[in-house]
Amino acid sequence: MPPMPTHPAPLLEARGITVRRPGRGRRAAPVTAVDGCSFTVRAGETLALVGASGSGKSSTAEAVLMLRRPDSGSVLFEGRDITDLSAEGMRALRPAMQPVFQDPFGALSPRMRVRDAIAEPIKVHKRWDPETGPDEVDSLLGRVGLAPELGGALPSDLSGGQCQRVGIARALALRPRLLVLDEPVSALDPSVRAGVVNLLTRLQEEQGLGYLFISHDFALVRRIAHRVAVLDAGRIVEEGPTAEVCRDPGHYRTRELLAASGLLAQRAGTAGAADAAGAADGALRGAR
Ligand SMILES: Nc1ncnc2c1ncn2[C@@H]1O[C@H](COP(=O)(O)OP(=O)(O)OP(=O)(O)O)[C@@H](O)[C@H]1O
Ligand SMILES: [Mg+2]
Repeated sequence: MPPMPTHPAPLLEARGITVRRPGRGRRAAPVTAVDGCSFTVRAGETLALVGASGSGKSSTAEAVLMLRRPDSGSVLFEGRDITDLSAEGMRALRPAMQPVFQDPFGALSPRMRVRDAIAEPIKVHKRWDPETGPDEVDSLLGRVGLAPELGGALPSDLSGGQCQRVGIARALALRPRLLVLDEPVSALDPSVRAGVVNLLTRLQEEQGLGYLFISHDFALVRRIAHRVAVLDAGRIVEEGPTAEVCRDPGHYRTRELLAASGLLAQRAGTAGAADAAGAADGALRGAR
């Protein structure tokens, strides 16, 4: 994990955002998926949103990306309120804040070759220069650790890890400053997870990207996030530097999530948190 920046500018700020969703089933009452959440992500920093299934992680991601406008509260990007931005204003901002989703195959069109998939966002945003574009695509392939020959491959020729690297290259193609990563390695085989995590860390180091990193897994979050916010039923119930939260969790939800990842601190014993954490890290590293 890169060192936390010392004088970071706030890249993203959520101020009391609330997202309501229609209840499932005909008579179900609406659900408050996100309930007054506030947080910031600074340049060069990773904030992890951690929570169980249904706690509102993806709804929060959609709200900050303005894929689903929050019902109340506001979202600021680089100090500017984007909550009520016009469609045109949002289009202009879109390249700066890019999503990476969980399902690496689903995010790619099955008949589009890797090279074209990476070029696509550049073309859609009218930034494609036929002179330099192909080299730019080659350089993006290199930056995500894919051999140039893979440019001609179809998604069905690739492993899950390679597909997710293409997804990351597509997100990087527009030179974003913020990535919103929704469970980006959860669907991957454990053997390739660490490689993708290391890639994300390196990219952040090189480019000072801010990450909003969504996960349910503290073992992963411990490796990648400077700070963590724990979500429960749409609310942030605990927030702090990752190491501190892992060492001394204050909320029972945090303890549940730590326990589920094999990281629960045993306050009284000597064979406590450090050993459990070391074992979990070893499992992740061994799986690379
Ligand atoms: N399309 C939808 N229609 C109605 N309600 C939804 C929809 N998607 C999510 N919800 C509800 O919103 C709440 C938050 O869901 P969300 O998908 O944001 O959680 P999550 O933390 O991302 O979960 P997961 O870990 O399973 O991805 C849940 O109560 C969920 O049932
Ligand atoms: Mg989700």
